[in-house]
Amino acid sequence: MNDIPMIGEGRDRIDGRSKVTGGARYAAEHNLDKIVHAVVISATIPAGRIKSIDAAAAKKAPGVLAVLSHLNAPKLNLTPPPAPKAQTETQGKGKEGGGQQQAQQQQQQQQQGNFAEPKLIPFATDQIQYLGQQIAVVVAETLEQATHAATLVKVTYDEMPARTDMRALRGEATDKGSTQAPPANKGDADAALASAAVKVDQTYTTPYHHHNPMEAHSVVVHFDGDKITLHDSSQNIFASRATLAKAFSVPRENVRVLSPFVGGAFGSKGSTWPHVLLATIASKEVKRPVKLWLPRKQLFFTNGHRPETEQRVALGANADGKLVAVIHEGVSQGNRVSDYNERFTRPTRMLYACDNIRVANKIVELNVSSGTYMRAPGESPGLFAFESAMDELAYALKIDPIRLRVINHADEDPIEHKPWSSKSLKQCYEQGAARFGWSRRTPEPRSMRDGRLLIGMGMATATYPAHRSPASARAKMNDDGNVVVAIGTHEMGMGTATVMQQLAAETLGVPYERVRFEYGDTTLPQAPISAGSMTAASVGTAVYQVMKELKRKLVELNGGQELASGDSYGALLHRHYLPSVEAQVDAKPDPEEAKYASHAFGAQFAEVSVDPDLGLVRMRRMVSAFAAGRVLNAKTARSQYLGGIVQGIGMALLEQTHLDKRIGSFTNVNFGEYLVPVNADIPPIDVIMVEEEDPHVNPIGAKGIGEIGITGVAPAIANAVFHATGKRVRDLPITIEKVL
Ligand code: MOS
Repeated sequence: MNDIPMIGEGRDRIDGRSKVTGGARYAAEHNLDKIVHAVVISATIPAGRIKSIDAAAAKKAPGVLAVLSHLNAPKLNLTPPPAPKAQTETQGKGKEGGGQQQAQQQQQQQQQGNFAEPKLIPFATDQIQYLGQQIAVVVAETLEQATHAATLVKVTYDEMPARTDMRALRGEATDKGSTQAPPANKGDADAALASAAVKVDQTYTTPYHHHNPMEAHSVVVHFDGDKITLHDSSQNIFASRATLAKAFSVPRENVRVLSPFVGGAFGSKGSTWPHVLLATIASKEVKRPVKLWLPRKQLFFTNGHRPETEQRVALGANADGKLVAVIHEGVSQGNRVSDYNERFTRPTRMLYACDNIRVANKIVELNVSSGTYMRAPGESPGLFAFESAMDELAYALKIDPIRLRVINHADEDPIEHKPWSSKSLKQCYEQGAARFGWSRRTPEPRSMRDGRLLIGMGMATATYPAHRSPASARAKMNDDGNVVVAIGTHEMGMGTATVMQQLAAETLGVPYERVRFEYGDTTLPQAPISAGSMTAASVGTAVYQVMKELKRKLVELNGGQELASGDSYGALLHRHYLPSVEAQVDAKPDPEEAKYASHAFGAQFAEVSVDPDLGLVRMRRMVSAFAAGRVLNAKTARSQYLGGIVQGIGMALLEQTHLDKRIGSFTNVNFGEYLVPVNADIPPIDVIMVEEEDPHVNPIGAKGIGEIGITGVAPAIANAVFHATGKRVRDLPITIEKVL
């Protein structure tokens, strides 16, 4: 590993040019011969059943090939969804069992087979679980014909009372899906809180958020005989392959999923959503390739969101600032057809040393579409609450916020009592504070001004766990001296292809230009889901190991010697009359790695101005310092951090999806009303990459950086707004009416 630098050279993205010139072909741009177009019809009620679907007029419309629904579509070989839960059905009833067990099974399946069977199967029954549910699809020769015919389909319903109000139903919350942050109870947190010298006990809320990738979810699928080819926009092509194979009862090798370009995902493309299945049903029925490109409005209902949360954080400390009690509990939105749980207590379990910790995150099943992973799922809303509460505690104690965090620094994982594989959080506080100029901050709220504007400085700790999953890779040295490295991973903008090409070149000791990286295709060796900030660690380890293996074979071929200077691998192969030499590895996590707790850490600093008359918050600058092990490419790494920080600014100040509880519908389902940050909202952002060598986390020593960038932003900004104004906003986003 000595040949790989700690901070990898900043290289441009190899897919950059094709993306900005339009050369990159995204899923929906595969205009196959005889392709037809699908348009989805969505349920307009949140709960109940379909009484009738009248498709007679639509079927007679020009160009229409089929109108498919539960009435006439073939049944898939998947478990049908559980019956909807009525508002009245559950009132007064206790906990529902089995949820946690199901989630555990699902997680196991995911780890073993890279596959979790979806729970909402399109066209399986007449039941409506949420508004926007895809209940029928119209297939026609052109998009215009399909769009028109869809307006002619008449649907009637038997409506049931819908469950839409999470807070009203919080008494029915369950642990379903909490396997990634199960309830924990260490010591006696309630007693310790009751007797603490200083305490903070508050409720924090975060709204629904939608990922809104630039590229809408879209597929082109061809069901041809007993073979399926799917052009998808996906973070998990092997799961899509497994799901399609099972659903349509064909062997996995008959299903090919391709996804070489993904126009943003942020977690929303990690699941095989119903549109993939229903487009495949359509192709099977009409025996033509089908294109389905979901409109932006439908994406707000069918492809995941970050569920809303309501979180209680109670902290107790003694007078010198040592934490004696940490309680973090609350609820987020769930539903009947998903096990997703927005595990917001996950960071609370490991961030600070404390003898008495109690955490639990529960879900309330609503008639609202399924939540899913969205950049730093759990950590983002969880740290908003927890790190806001730490700031409140700092004021209550009159201790500097950074000092309070250093006083409570965890020298080992406080619940699992494992040593850290590495941890450089104190260096992050120091280097971040120095760059930011934290010492210029005067502690009193409303004590800093610039003309008539109030100025605030705030900070928060950032963290995200480091994991990896099994990944396989193949490498081939050709006699022209060029190397091809292949693994079916995904590139949705992180820089994976570039970084892997670099890593392969450095490990083998050949020029970067000599390596080509192949990905985005299930005919290549299997890669895990690209999520959880684990692509660099998982795919990177496979690439590193396959190149080591290739090098071993080449050195062996060379009589056990490294190449002499002036020699080349191409010449070596020629000397032995070999067209190529190949290597293949299956890289699995080493049980040794599990002896350590592995997390990336950071410190994030925000400076805001607040107009005292208008309540308008503007960002002035941000400084973030992160320590995440080895950095493979300084340029793409910085971009990952910047993207997370920008998304965090959106979360803090702008983003929220409104749910109208009376009709069970999201209402601001477009870019006019769902506000994401634009250039004018973003201040100068400074990113410090703290050098950190981690010998334990995995063979390449990289922890993953895709998500940590967002995690401390919202609390740092909320804390800065309090510092500027003396007003504590515990409900995101921080909009003017909450500041005034
Ligand atoms: Mo990420 S939210 O794990 O794609």
